[in-house]
Amino acid sequence: MRSVITGSGIGLPPNVVTNEALATLMDTSDEWIRVRSGIQERRYAEPGQGSTDLGAIASRLAIADAGLNPADIDVVLFATMTPDHVLPGNGPLLQVALGLRDIPTFDLRQQCSGFLYGLELADLLIQSGRYRRVLLVGAEVHSPFMPWHLGWDTLIGRETRTITEAERAENTLSRDRTVLFGDAAGAVVIEGREGASGLGPIRLHTDGSGAGVLTMHGASFKRRPFVSHAQIEAGDTLPVMSGKEVFRSAVTLMPQAVREVCEIAGVAVEALDLVLIHQANLRIIEGVQKALGLRAEQVPHNIERYGNTTAATLPLLFHECRAQGLIRPGMNLAFTALGSGLHWGAAFYRT
Ligand code: UT7
Repeated sequence: MRSVITGSGIGLPPNVVTNEALATLMDTSDEWIRVRSGIQERRYAEPGQGSTDLGAIASRLAIADAGLNPADIDVVLFATMTPDHVLPGNGPLLQVALGLRDIPTFDLRQQCSGFLYGLELADLLIQSGRYRRVLLVGAEVHSPFMPWHLGWDTLIGRETRTITEAERAENTLSRDRTVLFGDAAGAVVIEGREGASGLGPIRLHTDGSGAGVLTMHGASFKRRPFVSHAQIEAGDTLPVMSGKEVFRSAVTLMPQAVREVCEIAGVAVEALDLVLIHQANLRIIEGVQKALGLRAEQVPHNIERYGNTTAATLPLLFHECRAQGLIRPGMNLAFTALGSGLHWGAAFYRT
């Protein structure tokens, strides 16, 4: 029995925010963002639209794409670091939105590696024989992290005004992070099937000694109260990142993980048709490509249009590659991701 992806779908919010638009709020430029990250634009959710909403759009499409109905799903795995609420998780909210049966729903907290960890869990659940059809969702609404009180409504046409110099200076303080992230969802249906295609070896890693390189200090249950005006004013409700350290880990550990799963699968790295890499930075994607000795066409990317969408990047990229006819039967694929935790790993997949 193999775990086969039988359907995929995506959920994209309507507001397209270009680099030029961000440059009206802070000292940044289209050139800086493109050169350092490859990002040209990203999407922002509508006010009140959460990761469950985007995940529901993606899920409905994925379930229909698999030729199934919501009632056919046996278990939900929802990966997000931007849930609608601290409690409950997105799983039960998605159950209601989709009209799913009384089935178990898991909420996964592995940030950029959430989808990859979800693949492992989906495979184990299917191999156990307890579940046949898994809905795996990766969805994020990062835009609420942004300092909206500093004129961000102008980006989505909800306000028309000139940004003051003081607001511009304050927005510039978080420009190293705010320009990178966008909102999106992707979902896949994974089913147990006999045959040669499906998920192969998966290797997951965690190094908690790197937890501090990408974290958020505010809205923390180690603080009393767990969130306060003081935290917001100090910018503690926005993630902090040692960009260069994450970059270095990403270009070293993701290629290692891909090699690891290829070796276990008995497939040469050069024999991979496509490697789907977490979309955090085009320079990272190119670095992984180079480290693995792959050609550019073996490593597709869509970060230009969406920025970093954390748990959503891999299902979003997978779906777009399928829609563009890049994924055909009999191919060798690898998925790889690295992010906050640090969590990273890779999965081999035969189409
Ligand atoms: O999903 C997993 C998590 N994230 C990642 O994997 C991200 C990994 N890291 C990266 O992608 C890169 O490190 C960044 C894109 C975050 C930053 O690129 P960098 O080449 O490491 O730039 P830097 O942080 O060294 O900053 C270079 C300069 C600084 O100015 P000075 O000190 O040289 O005068 C920054 O203040 O660029 C400045 N800068 C900006 N300038 C214009 C930082 N952000 C911006 C900006 N616009 N948005």
